[in-house]
Amino acid sequence: MEQAQPGSLMHPAVAPLAYLLGTWRGQGEGYYPTIISFSYTEELQFTHPNPRKPVISYAQKTWRSAGGPGAEPMHAESGFWRLKPDGSVEVVIAQSTGLVEVQKGTHDHEDKVIRLQSELVGNASKVKEISREFRLVNGELSYEVQMATNSTSLQPHLKAVFKKI
Ligand code: HEM
Repeated sequence: MEQAQPGSLMHPAVAPLAYLLGTWRGQGEGYYPTIISFSYTEELQFTHPNPRKPVISYAQKTWRSAGGPGAEPMHAESGFWRLKPDGSVEVVIAQSTGLVEVQKGTHDHEDKVIRLQSELVGNASKVKEISREFRLVNGELSYEVQMATNSTSLQPHLKAVFKKI
């Protein structure tokens, strides 16, 4: 694996995903066949603390409706995005519900699309599978999260769009 040059601020494996770095604020919608739909505000943060490691730190928090900080907190999660020598991406996430995920997937450097599929979902009472897709379009970041539970096949649970702040 290529090593970061002394004094450089970014590991070379992180460079294709540098557009993620920073803090994003946006609005999301949640739905699923078994629940009442809801809307939320979300803040997403991607940082790259150590240029010698091909790792991006990830933290997400949400608030009910369009409230933002000060409104009722909802789901939160955090983890690490690890860029692998073969160009793939591995993401580990711990959710505030206690659920943990190991996601593996790809990033398309040209189209700025990241597609992740759970390899492991742990400590979950209902969730069997999770997929996450991130996309950068015209400077806006968006994602779609799908999940499968023990009673429902893989289908959308969350969709959100962000601007960098
Ligand atoms: C419901 C999982 C993210 C808010 C659910 C349910 C599951 C689930 C299993 C129950 C579905 C059922 O009973 O059939 C997940 C997973 C997530 C995630 C795996 C991330 C990958 C979020 C986020 C929010 C959220 C980010 C809020 C912004 C809700 C709400 C409900 C719900 C409000 C319905 C009420 C409830 O059952 O508590 N979620 N969720 N979820 N989720 Fe999520």
